[in-house]
Amino acid sequence: MKTLLLTRSDLNRGSLLLVNARHPLPESVAPERLTPFFGSGVLLERRTALVLENLFTAIGCGASLIPVSGYRTLAEQKQIYASSLAENGEEFTRKYVALPDCSEHQTGLAIDLALNREPIDFIRPSFPEDGICGLFREKMISYGFIERYPEGKEDITGIAAEPWHFRYVGLPHAAIMKLHGFCLEEYLDYLSHFPAEGPHLEITIQNKSFEIFYQKAEASDGSVLLSLPSTLPFQVSGTNTDGCVVTLWR
Ligand code: DAL
Ligand code: ZN
Repeated sequence: MKTLLLTRSDLNRGSLLLVNARHPLPESVAPERLTPFFGSGVLLERRTALVLENLFTAIGCGASLIPVSGYRTLAEQKQIYASSLAENGEEFTRKYVALPDCSEHQTGLAIDLALNREPIDFIRPSFPEDGICGLFREKMISYGFIERYPEGKEDITGIAAEPWHFRYVGLPHAAIMKLHGFCLEEYLDYLSHFPAEGPHLEITIQNKSFEIFYQKAEASDGSVLLSLPSTLPFQVSGTNTDGCVVTLWR
């Protein structure tokens, strides 16, 4: 076994970070963790950008899909919220724009995409079910992307259905969420039932076996001391729910 000490700041990062009205952004993203998506003006967290570029290349979408909005600073989210309030009113804005510091766009893990067809609406871009958008949806799970605000989950996510807003959570998580029909809030709640003390979630996805568990931060400084098998590849992601998810490739 090996041990790994994660600080509170380490737990404020990772592809499973939950950011919503009840879980505000814990820490702003360091600029060096961001990169332009395909050389555009849209920034994303580095891995998210790389995987999404691979997905775009795999489906050969060329310029038919447009990145509308990726990483946003707090100032940008404030500005978007205020201008939507002025233009669209409170009911619309509460449904479609997250409060400043409660937007997962501020993590760099989320992107709004549009079909390249004028006019392109900045807040509610069109991303239909068919054609190249359908192909994107078909392939996105195996690249670790989810549709973050599905229809029917509005009461849980606090946001109206947004078929244009995609979120990188990585594998095997996107596939497990799809399997159970979970949104991110439901998935993290599900994983909290597999604590470090065990039993852990054991699952085979795309012919690979995974072991997954939730480690709560218990130290007074919010840090976590993990004990992991020395030989297995692993990944740790903070969740912004006072702990982290550990994924082992078995
Ligand atoms: N449109 C999403 C909810 C946001 O503003 O983060
Ligand atoms: Zn969005």
